[in-house]
Amino acid sequence: MKPSLKVKIGSLELKNPVLTASGTFGYGLEYSQFIDLNLLGGIIIKGLSLKPKKGNPPPRIYETPCGMLNSIGLQNIGYEAFVKEKLPFLRKFNTKIVVNFFGENLDEYIEIANKLSKTDGVDALEMNISCPNKETKWRKMGTEPELLRKAVKEVRAVVNKTLIVKLTPQVTDIAYMAKIVEDEGADAVSLINTFPAMVVDIKTRSSVLGTLTGGLSGPAIRPIAVRATWEVCKAVKIPVIGIGGIVDYSDALQFLIVGAKAVAVGTANFINPYATVEIIEGIERFLIEEGINNINDIIGSINEKANNAYN
Ligand SMILES: Cc1cc2nc3c(=O)[nH]c(=O)nc-3n(C[C@H](O)[C@H](O)[C@H](O)COP(=O)(O)O)c2cc1C
Repeated sequence: MKPSLKVKIGSLELKNPVLTASGTFGYGLEYSQFIDLNLLGGIIIKGLSLKPKKGNPPPRIYETPCGMLNSIGLQNIGYEAFVKEKLPFLRKFNTKIVVNFFGENLDEYIEIANKLSKTDGVDALEMNISCPNKETKWRKMGTEPELLRKAVKEVRAVVNKTLIVKLTPQVTDIAYMAKIVEDEGADAVSLINTFPAMVVDIKTRSSVLGTLTGGLSGPAIRPIAVRATWEVCKAVKIPVIGIGGIVDYSDALQFLIVGAKAVAVGTANFINPYATVEIIEGIERFLIEEGINNINDIIGSINEKANNAYN
């Protein structure tokens, strides 16, 4: 008998715990020629804003040891075009559609959250609080506890669907930030977003990216992401979605074992468009080999007593 891979994130029921990470899977269409989107637990859409956004000047991508640097700058087609041009295609598939969103300031966050909450075909919302906008104080909502508290509270008030808040790792105590998100009523938390980073071309003495710095992702950040996920899982009761450097099924299982209910796969999609499906198959195979009938039995099964510090 096949093991059950079903998990729940708030009221969102996923057929398996593997989602695609925002910004790394386009609007789904781009990958549908490689994989059957029906197989995925869910698709987290590229960050969406009310109005279309051009993003940053090139170069915007650079390969690093075990990872990549990006400065896409949240380029997207905007709410109206997404609903008209992308959502109907996505709704042909039997998978959950989670829309990652952001605004230039809190009013915009609230407005787009309100619209998405009322949009048929959107199953859940993921709030991106690591916003690279320059002008307003809300740029700091990911790192300033009191801004985060107010932002989540006000967004929660207009969202009737599952609300996931995506944390930045660029804080001293990520578990503390997760607790704030939980206290203000979010249904789940996802982590981590990319790390601000920089690569210099020594001949031109300039940065390799148009914007000087960018976000580091990929296997290079995985151990940090696993540690952060472990800390957050211990601090909150709401479901956690683990993200960061997942390339194969064993990477994904690390996040589940420390307590994540689901995972999202990002940079790996650029290297191997089949990564998500291979990860789902690998998890299933592992459960069969281990004699486990239900994925939920492995979630949070970390044996801390096996380590000296806890003896
Ligand atoms: C090219 C690119 C674009 C991204 N765009 C977004 C975005 O729009 N919103 C967001 O919350 N995260 C975005 N991310 C962050 C990813 O969703 C993910 O959190 C991060 O890359 C870590 O996972 P990974 O190491 O598996 O890529 C982006 C990452 C990359 C590489």
